[in-house]
Amino acid sequence: MKGILLAGGSGTRMYPSTLATSKQLLSVYDKPMIYHPLSVLMLAGIREILVISQPTSIPALQSLLGDGAHLGLSITYAEQPEPRGIAEALVIGADHIGDEPFALILGDNIFHGAGFPRLLREAQANLDGCTVFGYPVSDPERYGIAETDADGILVSLEEKPLKPLSDNAVTGLYFYSPEAVEIARGLKPSARGELEITDVNRAFLKDGRARLIRLGRGFTWLDAGTHDSLLAASQYVQVIEARQGVRVACIEEIALRMGYIDAEECHRLGVRMKSSQYGQYLMQIAAVAA
Ligand code: DAU
Repeated sequence: MKGILLAGGSGTRMYPSTLATSKQLLSVYDKPMIYHPLSVLMLAGIREILVISQPTSIPALQSLLGDGAHLGLSITYAEQPEPRGIAEALVIGADHIGDEPFALILGDNIFHGAGFPRLLREAQANLDGCTVFGYPVSDPERYGIAETDADGILVSLEEKPLKPLSDNAVTGLYFYSPEAVEIARGLKPSARGELEITDVNRAFLKDGRARLIRLGRGFTWLDAGTHDSLLAASQYVQVIEARQGVRVACIEEIALRMGYIDAEECHRLGVRMKSSQYGQYLMQIAAVAA
């Protein structure tokens, strides 16, 4: 399965912090935001990843993640010149996707919770059309919203409804069959001038090929697209890491645990950053794994 990580957008809601850098490179406590969605793709076992961003941000993303070989990944890059909508990522990524199923994840989405790798595997194993993830929120008018029937079957999807039919937000992680590309190519821009990912999902829903997996109350989903939500996400990560003594979204650790790299490589990556606690953590987990 292929992966697309969409890390574009103008970041205007976070000016002046994003005047000279991309939002997805800002720090969520101790690491760049983009480590979070990258971790999700890695945990899903996805190793061929296309990162899409605005042209000015690509050099910085490349110097952070390179070609991914040090993590046992293949990371390539493509430009989205203007933020014309999330669904445009499917059109830009068409060659990368080819005729394989794929996952799309938004660069400012943070997922954390027990059993997530199992859910990711389940989503892939049963994929036919599209699979989205629902999460209860207190401000549903800000999100794509999923309505389900009494049996939990998806019945409607709406983008930022004025009168939400449920509090079940559709998160920024989507699994698709390859036909999603053709659907995205056929979309018309919405009233706000964007190719809406919700319209791709609705097309699958119309054919009875859209599925919702609910992330329960014990799970955490955050987006970090405003100063307040970024601070909340940083505080969340800080609390968990301090309490548990483990790192959230540590891409080198995931590469090690998934068997993409060995302990020696993990140690080497730690040595590069040895004056930071993050680097020291990598050296510690490498020593335990050796
Ligand atoms: O976070 C989940 C929500 O993401 C979903 O519930 C909504 O259905 C979905 O439309 C989206 O809503 P947002 O209002 O959060 O979308 P936003 O325009 O803020 O874009 C989300 C991220 O994608 C953001 O980090 C910027 C990036 N992006 C966005 C657009 C429109 C791009 O890279 N390119 C784009 O063209």
